[in-house]
Amino acid sequence: IENPKSIIVIFGATGDLAKRKLFPSIYRLYKNGSISKNFAVIGVARSPLSNEDFRANVTKSVQSAGSTNEVEEFSSHFYYQPFDVTSSSSYQALKQLMGTLDGDYNTDGNRIFYLAMAPEFFGTIASNLKAEGLTETSGWKRLVIEKPFGRDLPSAQKLNSELREAFDESEIYRIDHYLGKEMVQNIEVIRFSNAIFEPLWNNRYISNIQITSSETLGVEDRGRYYESSGALRDMVQNHMLQMVALLAMEPPIKLNPREIRSEKVKVLRALRPFSQDEVDDYFVRGQYSAGLMDEKEVKGYREEKSVDPDSNTETFVAGKLLIDNFRWAGVPFYIRTGKRMAAKSTKIIVQFKDIPMNLYYNRGEKVEPNLLVIHIQPEEGITLHLNVKKSGKDISTTPIKLAYSSSSIDGINTPEAYERLIYDCMRGDMTNFTHWDEVALSWSFIDQISQAWESTKAYDFPNYESGSMGPKKADELLQNEGTHWWPVQ
Ligand code: BG6
Repeated sequence: IENPKSIIVIFGATGDLAKRKLFPSIYRLYKNGSISKNFAVIGVARSPLSNEDFRANVTKSVQSAGSTNEVEEFSSHFYYQPFDVTSSSSYQALKQLMGTLDGDYNTDGNRIFYLAMAPEFFGTIASNLKAEGLTETSGWKRLVIEKPFGRDLPSAQKLNSELREAFDESEIYRIDHYLGKEMVQNIEVIRFSNAIFEPLWNNRYISNIQITSSETLGVEDRGRYYESSGALRDMVQNHMLQMVALLAMEPPIKLNPREIRSEKVKVLRALRPFSQDEVDDYFVRGQYSAGLMDEKEVKGYREEKSVDPDSNTETFVAGKLLIDNFRWAGVPFYIRTGKRMAAKSTKIIVQFKDIPMNLYYNRGEKVEPNLLVIHIQPEEGITLHLNVKKSGKDISTTPIKLAYSSSSIDGINTPEAYERLIYDCMRGDMTNFTHWDEVALSWSFIDQISQAWESTKAYDFPNYESGSMGPKKADELLQNEGTHWWPVQ
């Protein structure tokens, strides 16, 4: 296949995401030959930078991601255009520059507009791109959009209809960077390419599934954004529900975006809704207090920069999701995520049901259930927990682990999520981007919870110490059902 050619316009080119993720990812694609030399990047943002300043920023960002080879040559593909998102002349200047670079780099009129900036401008930019004629091109055009995609269903619908004025659904690439992670992509492969899992992957053999995504960082300098978001919108609406959908979906009839997305949509449609009064039976919210992390004293959430000293914003969420369909009826999916927790770790633990009759004991205790652990990060791999005979005279069992770690294979350097996603977008593969139907269904599920939480103040905030695994109530959520969170550390 021919390598993709395109002009990539990055809105928000002086921002954090561009610097930390986008420039280094485009560099790696360039270095490993995944994109042809026929590409140019136009950075736009408010500040008045020259092309040279911008290229120096790009060079620095790539170097601080650890690369030095051919960086100058790479940076020469980058151009800068000072930009005011509301001014017609900005769009005209951009249009002209695109036209010139199209010729210089032979990009066949292909254009990616990458919105990596404050979400309040997403709609304005899309409609101006159309009004000013930037969406008319002889090649393809694609819009890549970062989160947050709205903050509830009505705002997401409004944003979506603004985007749809200028771009077709098949041209809108909504980023969920978890879908670019190696082991998130592996969920489907593990499920659908192994004869030993798929027959057991249902309510007859699975007792529950636990998904934990814990972080050690606090809100850092994102207080302003986070105050209007909270962990529910920041992590659950997108990343956590996407993982649930991949774990629970039916096998797609083909590996194409349409079929895969439609199976995911069915899972989201089957999520059991609840009333405002029932929210507490299913979901727990938390907020971190000061504490010790790595032997250093860290601040509580309410003491962080740009955070209300009386904030009601949750920095932790745990929940129980039920999927009302034939495969999953009665199997809880437990999720939890939070900031300032004991470890940075994303893991999925599939707990199988106990064997029907216990013939053996493990030091006098019941044998352990079988677990399949999918390690998303920082380690990447899978572990299967089994029971074997303990060596010696007694017939007693001992738990063992069969483990595969993809990060420990020599010479394999799994690409960063953004690297994959940018590449997929350039090739026009939408599989690992969220369809509007998924976004809409996720918001309608999340809205039931956020409405309840916003209308009643959390009386116990802050309720977990920095460096812990969250509030006690999150443990009780599972204890009440006779189970517990499996350790993720
Ligand atoms: C982002 C959230 O989407 O995901 C952040 O906005 C969070 O608050 C981040 O820190 C976590 O991503 P990762 O890849 O480090 O698990």
